[in-house]
Amino acid sequence: MKRVVVVNGPNLNLLGKREPNIYGTRTLEDLRQVIEERASRLGLDVAFFQSNDEGEMIDFLQREGPGSAGIIINPAAFAHYSLALYDCLQALALPVVEVHISNIHAREEWRSRSVTARAARGVITGLGFAGYEFALEFLATHQ
Ligand code: DQA
Repeated sequence: MKRVVVVNGPNLNLLGKREPNIYGTRTLEDLRQVIEERASRLGLDVAFFQSNDEGEMIDFLQREGPGSAGIIINPAAFAHYSLALYDCLQALALPVVEVHISNIHAREEWRSRSVTARAARGVITGLGFAGYEFALEFLATHQ
């Protein structure tokens, strides 16, 4: 079975409590369920992970990435400045879809820039949890 790696970055453990006007009222556990349900309908296995720590995210990607069909990553604030995460995604040489729950182009100016997006096949931003589902559909059908 095709396996997809889903990684969420810092503060996304606070989903549901954190700025609900921006990120909604559903929790990280709700997100995991949405992803697992959609993945099972698409015939995908999921390795789901969240960390507030850049190094832990990189360790997980290095461990789980190889052999997978692709990566769905919401780097959270690391998108805006983590060259280490960018290098990691480049090194894995897998299809990457970067997802942001909010529309990073409709917020503070500095959020518009994502350094990790350069390592991604595409970016889905502003569509809430549905962005992860669209990313799964893409990885299920594209190499
Ligand atoms: C985010 C957007 C980032 O700018 C922010 O730092 C986050 C979440 C999103 O999903 O909308 O933590 O990645």
